[in-house]
Amino acid sequence: MIYSKIAGTGRYLPERIMTNADLEKIVDTSDEWIRTRTGVERRHVATEDQLTSDLCVEAAKNAIEDAGITAEDIDLIVVGTTSPDLIFPNIATIIQEKLGIHGCPAFSIEAACTGFIYALTTTDKFIRAGETKCALVIGAEIITKLIDWTDRATCVLFGDGAGAVIVKPADEPGIISTHLGADGKYKELLYYPVGVSKDLYKAGVGDSRIIMSGNEVFKVAVRTLGNVATIALEANGIDKDDLDWLIPHQANLRIIQATAKRLGLPMEKVIVTVQDHGNTSAASVPLALDVAVRDGRIKRGQLILMEAFGGGFTWGSVLMRF
Ligand code: ACO
Repeated sequence: MIYSKIAGTGRYLPERIMTNADLEKIVDTSDEWIRTRTGVERRHVATEDQLTSDLCVEAAKNAIEDAGITAEDIDLIVVGTTSPDLIFPNIATIIQEKLGIHGCPAFSIEAACTGFIYALTTTDKFIRAGETKCALVIGAEIITKLIDWTDRATCVLFGDGAGAVIVKPADEPGIISTHLGADGKYKELLYYPVGVSKDLYKAGVGDSRIIMSGNEVFKVAVRTLGNVATIALEANGIDKDDLDWLIPHQANLRIIQATAKRLGLPMEKVIVTVQDHGNTSAASVPLALDVAVRDGRIKRGQLILMEAFGGGFTWGSVLMRF
């Protein structure tokens, strides 16, 4: 039996940091409101010249170094993102070229904030099928370029970044289980109103901002993230107390706290990075993973549940022994 295992992690955040105090200068908000409602204190914001692939390449280099491999070893690239550089070619091929590797399959997956979990799950299938020996999996966004900076309801929430992992085959897990789901009936609660086949050339300030029903998203997010975790644990006959760490999607501290409470999991077992990065969508889980690996909290052999929830809605989990 072939399993997949994370062999290395990496991340990259744009140099420019925007604090809540910076936001107070451009919209009618306050540090106190943002902290108490979301837990966010600062976020990284890409410059006009920075592309999502630039963030991905730096995160990938970090992960490659951590895994002790070279770029030439990579035989699959899968990227979860909703903010690719171009409509086509897909961003994974751009990253491939920037890393100087050629020929291996490279594609992207669009599942909003669940993009990395979808990408890692897909990669797990390639590895288990024996087709892939060394995969680069990335979750990345420059979501701030979709933000309407006059809309205080959304502009305070998001940030940019990239997280990457190298995944290799192993004789034992590694990844124990993956569970994905989606329900398009929730589209109206969270979406971006412009796309390739819809109003691309009509887009302008005001009509092209993220549309979100914050309260409704909040409620479904808490319910779904709780269910997703329970499904993963029950499917494997694992008690929540056996988990070393939960790495939830970093959308909002209150969503994370409510999810942990629903699961009966103490916050000491939950990795939280939303205060430093804001909601980085598909990048949030791999960013949080890399932060906690590098600061020594997550150790080899520990049992970790990663889970995400995003526009669609989409959701999913990866249970693994790190
Ligand atoms: N600063 C100050 N006041 C604000 C701001 C702001 N940035 N934004 C909204 N307000 C005001 C509103 O206008 C409203 O004022 P009113 O009562 O006079 O009408 C008041 O604050 C309360 O607004 P609510 O929307 O009820 O505030 P709530 O407590 O629900 O918090 C929030 C809003 C933070 C968006 C919350 O609903 C939330 O986190 N929802 C989840 C959304 C989310 O995480 N989306 C990310 C994408 S989805 C994902 O990643 C899972």
